[in-house]
Amino acid sequence: MAALRTAERVVALTGAGVSAESGLPTFREAQTGLWARYRPEELATPEAFDMDPRLVWEWYAWRHSLVERAVPNAAHRTLAKMAALIPNFTLVTQNIDGLHQQAGSLRVVELHGSIRHARCIREGAIRPWPPTNDLPPSCPECGALLRPDVVWFGEPLPSSALAQAVHAASQCDVFLSIGTSGVVEPAASLAYHAAQGGATVAYLNPERPKNTAPGSFYVCGLAGDILPALLGAVWPDQGVDTE
Ligand code: OAD
Repeated sequence: MAALRTAERVVALTGAGVSAESGLPTFREAQTGLWARYRPEELATPEAFDMDPRLVWEWYAWRHSLVERAVPNAAHRTLAKMAALIPNFTLVTQNIDGLHQQAGSLRVVELHGSIRHARCIREGAIRPWPPTNDLPPSCPECGALLRPDVVWFGEPLPSSALAQAVHAASQCDVFLSIGTSGVVEPAASLAYHAAQGGATVAYLNPERPKNTAPGSFYVCGLAGDILPALLGAVWPDQGVDTE
């Protein structure tokens, strides 16, 4: 807590757990996680899209409908507030749902893309999310297939987002890893970059992540509880978001 009070540069890395309290499923939790019910290789790889673009689109159209109904929770709102209180705050997310932006976070480094947009597979142009009554959709400009603008297994991350995240992690004073199991690379290594650079690293999660950076701290709990409590403890004049 003291480290956060005096920190000049803070990085928060978020994962699916941060959106869980907005009703969006995580990936790896037994019973409720998406990967407990669906096979990623059939739905979230370039090969799956080549083989059956309609099936892949149906799955993403379903996830998009969940995202459209979801609203930001106390964790998203608290991270947006922190950005205004810390001189140099970088929010890096593995989430594709856009809820951080909806909560008011202005600069969000999206490592895994966004389900708010589609992308032309021929030209790479970003297009609005298409109507999904006739799947798979085509690019309105060139007629090629559209795909969700997300990163699939086996694909590289957007290079500028990754470079920004690595740079910010390596330079920061405090690194918070929130609501992520920490098993997907390269996001999982960001905490290690931070620790190597001398940052205080803390994991905020209801279960202890498997791989944790040396010398790091672990805070057990839900993001929607811990983050408002942390904000209230470090900046008492900000009030606690209890909604
Ligand atoms: P996971 O499903 O792997 O992990 C989510 C974590 O959130 C788990 O450790 C949960 O215990 C925790 N959690 C659940 N509810 C929470 C809450 N209310 N507050 C805080 N934490 C909570 O999801 P990610 O780590 O985000 O990638 O997964 C990383 C990547 O793997 C995803 O971006 C996705 C997936 O495959 C791609 O699709 C490329």
